Amino acid sequence: MVPAPPNYQFHDLQPALADFRREVHAGLSAAPRRIAPKFFYDAAGSRLFDAITRLDAYYPTRTEIGLLRAHGAQIAALLGRGATLIELGSGSDVKIRTVIDALAPAEYLPLDISGVHLDRAASGIARDYPGLQVQAVCVDYTQPFDLPPTAGAHRVAFYPGSSVGNFEPAEVVRLLQRVARMVGPRGRLLVGVDLKKDAARLNAAYDDPEGVTARFNLNLLVRMASELGAQIERDAFAHDAFYDASRGRIEMHLRAVRPTAIELDGARYAFSPGESIHTENSYKYRVDEFVALAEASGFVSERVWCDAERLFSVHCLRAAA
Ligand code: AVJ
Repeated sequence: MVPAPPNYQFHDLQPALADFRREVHAGLSAAPRRIAPKFFYDAAGSRLFDAITRLDAYYPTRTEIGLLRAHGAQIAALLGRGATLIELGSGSDVKIRTVIDALAPAEYLPLDISGVHLDRAASGIARDYPGLQVQAVCVDYTQPFDLPPTAGAHRVAFYPGSSVGNFEPAEVVRLLQRVARMVGPRGRLLVGVDLKKDAARLNAAYDDPEGVTARFNLNLLVRMASELGAQIERDAFAHDAFYDASRGRIEMHLRAVRPTAIELDGARYAFSPGESIHTENSYKYRVDEFVALAEASGFVSERVWCDAERLFSVHCLRAAA
């Protein structure tokens, strides 16, 4: 083990394993069956997601990085220097380094549910930016929690990758309201949002020919077996992802391809062929649709950047005074 750098702290507010067990039972008992996408991100799932971000078909990551690079100076002018930079979901290393280079924050607080992934990424940042105070917070940021004390001149939040797309629009409003309180009056949120586009492009991004997204989805079953002791015939389930244009979202499912059952703690959840566990929604927005959600959450839209192909958007939002 490399010793932790002096400018690095790790706070563990992690939800217990009991939560995962309880949510799996509740989700498999529900109709239709569902398990929340936050449970994808154990160490293996975070690695698989990293692999997704490098796929040709998965355009969001490189498009967002391109926007952050192209508009770094403007972003810094709006968000200000010397801030406490709070990142929701410690995602791509390249993205956050681009933002840190542009903003020169005093302090960096990555929030992430996946402790191993968070510790690796955040301690690496602390090592490479010795003048930056790094406080990693392992937490489920969809639940209320207290931030550790912060020291920067003001707070700015960064919510990249269109992770906001995982939530129902009504949940987005509640989450953004909490972010507005976190950054305080006139605090900024920089948020990446994937745009609506033709179904073929979207379907390819969530069902890549290399099968990485399929492994990412199916890893949830691996995790249920290894962490919870669930009995699962893994080859009885297949990855299914499709764009529903009327709802403006990608849906991912684990779909039974033959009759099977999942056994967990003495309970038996039977599946007929075609029945599924709904594992993720990834909502896509037009710029005006997302601005409306932001405004319903106590933010004002200050600036929006899109790439030339209009694949992805980055919004700079300011919390009301
Ligand atoms: C991390 C939620 C932004 O929705 O695009 C990628 C997750 N799922 N491929 C997304 C994901 C399948 C990703 N987010």
